[in-house]
Amino acid sequence: MPEAGTETVDDIHPKSPIDRLDRGLPEEDRAKSIDVELVAAVLGMSRAFIARALERPGTRPKQITLEQVLGLLDVDGFQETFIPRSKIPSYLLGSLEDSKQPRSAVLDGPETVAIHRGDARDLLARLAPGSVQCVVTSSPYWGMRVYENTRQVTWADGEQCAYGFEQTPEGFIRHTTEILYLLKPAVAAGGSVWWNLMDTYNTRTPIRGNARERLDEMGSVPESRRGWTDHIACRHSAGHMYLNDAEQSSIPPRVAERASRIGYRLKSYITWRKNSATPEPVQSRGTRQAEYILHLSVGDTPPTFNKDEWTELEPELGGPHPTLESAERVTDVWSLPTSSGKNGHGAEFPLALPGRCIALASSEGDLVLDPFIGSGTSALAAVQLGRRCIGFDISDHYVELAQARVAMQQGLEELTAKEVAALAAQLHLETDDEGTLATAIVTSSDTVAIPVTRRGGASRPRPHELAPAAPPYR
Ligand SMILES: C[S@@+](CC[C@H](N)C(=O)[O-])C[C@H]1O[C@@H](n2cnc3c(N)ncnc32)[C@H](O)[C@@H]1O
Repeated sequence: MPEAGTETVDDIHPKSPIDRLDRGLPEEDRAKSIDVELVAAVLGMSRAFIARALERPGTRPKQITLEQVLGLLDVDGFQETFIPRSKIPSYLLGSLEDSKQPRSAVLDGPETVAIHRGDARDLLARLAPGSVQCVVTSSPYWGMRVYENTRQVTWADGEQCAYGFEQTPEGFIRHTTEILYLLKPAVAAGGSVWWNLMDTYNTRTPIRGNARERLDEMGSVPESRRGWTDHIACRHSAGHMYLNDAEQSSIPPRVAERASRIGYRLKSYITWRKNSATPEPVQSRGTRQAEYILHLSVGDTPPTFNKDEWTELEPELGGPHPTLESAERVTDVWSLPTSSGKNGHGAEFPLALPGRCIALASSEGDLVLDPFIGSGTSALAAVQLGRRCIGFDISDHYVELAQARVAMQQGLEELTAKEVAALAAQLHLETDDEGTLATAIVTSSDTVAIPVTRRGGASRPRPHELAPAAPPYR
């Protein structure tokens, strides 16, 4: 039974739909004018290219008709971004109605940290334009994990599913591009977006809460072995437009291209070389040790890039790896640890990843955003670096976890023994008799020691020492 507030996720059948563009629109619709910024993002073309394709080179049209949009769909090189071609006319016509709706209240940047529960699609639209200096995030990956409190979302392309549980990798790529599109207005000139992504194989591997559970399901623990199709959100790979069974889906490079097509500048396609990687039971290919981080900026202003601050940073917060990296150069291969995964979230960042991104791309007092904040690691890194942070997550469970971790880091020295006990109960922690040591019982089998002090305690740890379960640097 799913827990309250959690919806079950559907099985994934990567079967590409066969839909066609219907050009038989009424004259009155074909004559309607649409904002060219939106058209450019939906068609994946720059405004200058659109002007050239409409035989008006050197001009900057603000509006074009739907008739002209239909013509642009025939131009070589068209590539969908977040709306499939067959749905572009109805989406653009619908946008004319949407623009008449009142806007929801603006979400102000907090003085320190604020974590909001909700769908990132809704919350991103409420951020003040240009208010965010640095975005660092890791969205759910396609078809990889079942999270706590998953919830269905209705996307602009019409699909209804929890993020990460799209029926095809193309659906996931569209939804990721849609989030990037919604996010773009909030990014400040000179700001950066760091988007962590991983690829998925088009296999029938059961989708579980974390890599360990997945390996167990695949046979290393005989008593939990079940048939391939007997799992929640099992993938069946037949019916995709071109991907074969067990083939890699190429999701990160395809998202990178679409980010560029909707108007971001792709600064770097960073390889995160993980210092330790989960073993995979595969025989015909190399096991994966890399994930990717897209570094994106907006507009003509070059993004802030504080190499000097990065050079001085300790490795735990994302500074240069003492042996695998040179402090002289920031390259596009980052040697960072993986997270210990013991803070109650199966896909947690190592502190070093948001730490490095935030230090490089922002300054003290700037606002950092993580729209998929999970256990709150980005907020911990932001606070330790003196930045403010706003975070979103769709799960009540993770919002509570993130808030508790931040509260613990921010205010521990102010807590009485009673408050420590209350916090410990909220976080499922156990304190010893003195109230000076808490052990997190995060899952039934994983434990992690968290040093805490009470008011008046002899030693007052520095903020970074309070971060629960900072992983040993490997
Ligand atoms: C990869 S995890 C992020 C983990 C995080 N970096 C950390 O260090 O713990 C992705 C998160 O996205 C959340 N999520 C999924 N769909 C969402 C949505 N539509 N809006 C906001 N959050 C969502 C999940 O609940 C999950 O916590």
